[in-house]
Amino acid sequence: MEPVLQLAGVNKTYRIGDEQTRALVDFDFDVSAGEFVVVTGPSGAGKSTLLHIAGGLDAPDTGVVSVNGQDVWSVSAGARAAFRRRNLGFVFQFFNLVPMLTAVQNVSLPLVLDGTAARVADARAEALLERVGLGDRTGHRPAELSGGQMQRVAVARALVAGPSLILADEPTGNLDSHSSAEVLDLLRSLSDEDGAAVVMVTHDRTAASYGSREVHLVDGHARADDVAAGER
Ligand SMILES: Nc1ncnc2c1ncn2[C@@H]1O[C@H](COP(=O)(O)OP(=O)(O)OP(=O)(O)O)[C@@H](O)[C@H]1O
Ligand SMILES: [Mg+2]
Repeated sequence: MEPVLQLAGVNKTYRIGDEQTRALVDFDFDVSAGEFVVVTGPSGAGKSTLLHIAGGLDAPDTGVVSVNGQDVWSVSAGARAAFRRRNLGFVFQFFNLVPMLTAVQNVSLPLVLDGTAARVADARAEALLERVGLGDRTGHRPAELSGGQMQRVAVARALVAGPSLILADEPTGNLDSHSSAEVLDLLRSLSDEDGAAVVMVTHDRTAASYGSREVHLVDGHARADDVAAGER
């Protein structure tokens, strides 16, 4: 079966003045449906760069990025944005919710932007908020929610279009251990039960233990001794 995410020969170098940083070096990476890949590595190793490139937010200098067999950079910016909204879900460390909108409006927003009728989008958002345990918080704005609740709203938003690829950058970085466990259980259920491909960057060993596979990045390279979670 074709991988959901495929990076082949990806290089990314950032230049500021004379300074060059090779954030990803000859990088190959495949993620299949149902996998929960954890990306670890020291600060500056290229983890966020990897997620931005995998998600079509940042262009590789060389190499190919495919999601569901679609070469992400062979289409126009508009087509890429629409493709992202339909196939990918992003979860960030700082939640990135819209402060003025309620939980249900935050979750339904990607569908509304894609032309779905508000009534249909809100019904879907409410069902997802129910799934993440926030059925009783649908009318709360972000400032009226706890950190763990905000992140569960963000996960619900990432799921609203039924994406096959979920990318999460330090999703538990601002959460206490209880809220972290809730978010990690949720992410794992997306790969285990929904068959999504999940890629999560984390610094936290407990969070990393939820993955089905770990890729350890150092200086833009995957370390050779990647370990399957079950073998640790
Ligand atoms: N827009 C940019 N311009 C210049 N250099 C950048 C840019 N983005 C990232 N870098 C550099 O590229 C390297 C990889 O950055 P990246 O953000 O991917 O690291 P990271 O592994 O996510 O680190 P952290 O764990 O601290 O989040 C770093 O050395 C960083 O300074
Ligand atoms: Mg980072």
